[in-house]
Amino acid sequence: MSDLNKIALKILSNGKGILAADESNATMTKRLEAVNINSTPESRLAFRETLFSSENMKECIGGVILYDETINQVSNSGQKIPEMILASGSVPGIKVDTGAKNLANSFEEKITEGLDDLRYRLKKYYELGARFTKWRAVYNINNKYPSKLAVHSNAHALARYSALVQECGMVPIVEPEVLMDGDHSADICLIKTSEVIQKCFEELILHKIDLKGLILKPNMILDGKNSKNKISNEEVSFKTLECLKRSVPSEVPGIAFLSGGQSELEAAENLNLISQNNNTNFIMTFSYGRALQQSALKTWSKDIKNIKETQKIFNHRAKMCSLASQGKWSKELESK
Ligand code: G3H
Repeated sequence: MSDLNKIALKILSNGKGILAADESNATMTKRLEAVNINSTPESRLAFRETLFSSENMKECIGGVILYDETINQVSNSGQKIPEMILASGSVPGIKVDTGAKNLANSFEEKITEGLDDLRYRLKKYYELGARFTKWRAVYNINNKYPSKLAVHSNAHALARYSALVQECGMVPIVEPEVLMDGDHSADICLIKTSEVIQKCFEELILHKIDLKGLILKPNMILDGKNSKNKISNEEVSFKTLECLKRSVPSEVPGIAFLSGGQSELEAAENLNLISQNNNTNFIMTFSYGRALQQSALKTWSKDIKNIKETQKIFNHRAKMCSLASQGKWSKELESK
């Protein structure tokens, strides 16, 4: 087993998944201001370290994706943040893209940037303790998009990023997110997501990526947010599995879904059904941001001193996601 494969399995195995706490300062500011909290380096750290020191980190969270600000911070108890994550048995990770920008010659679409000084930044993050990384590409669906240009250029960037990350001894998370926005059907989402993921693997293979040392972070197959039809959760699981079976090479050890705007409940229920119906060899788990943090953030904002109450909420969400990744989640457990 290669070292990269070992890291990937440590993050994903035994009912564990990933806590995506890598919101940029701009995004985190939006989330904090929405619950009337002033966004400062101190308040961002205070919320995040409340999560990182929660009890169920040990049992349920195999990896935490950090943002540049957080990986350089020291907790109130004097521990460096990557050390705090390691102490809970979890692997520290880092978001390394620098965001999605307008794609030249297809202005309504995005290309994710961040390759220029990446080799240098990766070394710094490795020294700080990171052992995996994240790069997110985003694609819109409508009658024109995603264009071949967006599909190709983002796949190329994801492959170049992955090659540099593996060269530095870390596991790349490859995140091609086909957005929920729009009124498209789940069948269109299935076609477009398959096309996007297939192109990613074409480029990853061309760039000689060790597929056993990589984690795919895709969207689930859903109807567009504004679509009048809504397929059942069971259908979401079947279509998602169909997409992954036709698009992902069997060497890839695991798939960690993004929640992408689903509610906490939907994200747990859909993952649970995907795991129960999983007829592939891939580990299926979560790499959730909002679907792990939303309720905890609401509770925290009511009384930021009441750490226990926030941790109780986060522990429950982490446990629910962990059970869902093993196909053992239920609505009854959810309301306990
Ligand atoms: O890149 C997206 C995040 O890592 C996952 O966030 O679960 O809220 O979509 P989300």
